[in-house]
Amino acid sequence: MEKGPRKRILVTGGAGFIGSHAAVALHEAGYAPVIIDDLRNSRKSAVKGIESLLSVPVEWHRVDCGDAEAMKPVFKQPVHGAIHFAADKAVGESVAHPEKYFDNNVGGTARFVAQLRNHGVQHLVFSSSCTVYGEAEELPVSEDAPILPAASPYGYTKQACEDLLRITHAAAEGQLGISILRYFNPIGAHPSAHLGELPLGPPPNLVPYLLQAVAGNSGPLIVFGDNYPTPDGTCIRDYLHVCDLAEAHVAALRWLEQHQGALDVFNLGTGRGTSVKEVITAFHLATGLDVPHKIGDRRPGDVTAIYADAAKADEVLGWRTTRSLEDCLRDAWRWQQRLQDTPS
Ligand code: UFG
Repeated sequence: MEKGPRKRILVTGGAGFIGSHAAVALHEAGYAPVIIDDLRNSRKSAVKGIESLLSVPVEWHRVDCGDAEAMKPVFKQPVHGAIHFAADKAVGESVAHPEKYFDNNVGGTARFVAQLRNHGVQHLVFSSSCTVYGEAEELPVSEDAPILPAASPYGYTKQACEDLLRITHAAAEGQLGISILRYFNPIGAHPSAHLGELPLGPPPNLVPYLLQAVAGNSGPLIVFGDNYPTPDGTCIRDYLHVCDLAEAHVAALRWLEQHQGALDVFNLGTGRGTSVKEVITAFHLATGLDVPHKIGDRRPGDVTAIYADAAKADEVLGWRTTRSLEDCLRDAWRWQQRLQDTPS
């Protein structure tokens, strides 16, 4: 890393699950993460977790990143780049309240990007999702797969954000480079157990729910359908460790630094598909513990199978996952145990 003051990188949603791990990865790579989070869907304890893990204070602002007036103090010092995570992400809620999702996810992104342009910020990494592919026709799915109708309003907001960013990129005429990252299924936690997922309310996703079931805080895990056309009948996803995912953001930022004004899109996954039943087996292998579970009905909106063709991120960004599914589940369980001991 070059000498001189660390370059400030705004991390919107930096108190969230992926954002907090990305803040750590940025610091470790020599940048100064600046956490922007209004805590509407996260907790201040995540910022404390980052600070205790890094043993340094981090700059953070409790503010809505879409509120240009309230964001003014953030831009008083030079801003080198931004990673935009802040968004609503509960698929079920998006079905009930699509207008909230379009306002916060698409409107919020538009309002934030306008500030970046006004302040001459040159690099933006955007948090997208494999949900933009809908029910992919070919697996593994590569970045040039068609963008099909999304399975949820949440999915439509990610598609709309990608369109917004492409159009804004053209309008910026080389002044703003954008890297769009399409995440597959991030799970796990920091191995130190200082950071992990803090779902507010009942967890909607597989691994947080599985942890609750094993910890005895809930009923058994319900496997949503075992009659899908897959080898064991359960849905297939591409689960990657949140620390691997965090490191991809540093790689994307470095790539933007080397390709001023560029725009590109990258899948971030392992390239391997894993069924729900295989996750349950892997958890047992990783921890020696059984997952209480039973088979339930299919969940509306679930696609049968999706996993990444992750070759482009490897070739262009020099990034690939290094942690196994067992690593993910062991780290997630360690975090769950810490939460049980010291609830936030
Ligand atoms: N599942 C269960 N039981 C549960 C929860 C989930 O069997 O209690 C199954 C689902 O049916 C699915 C798999 O576990 O087959 C993974 O489900 P998640 O909810 O963990 O993840 P999704 O693949 O549905 O969704 C994730 C993100 C979304 C994002 C989507 C596509 O949570 O935000 O990937 O990008 F939109």
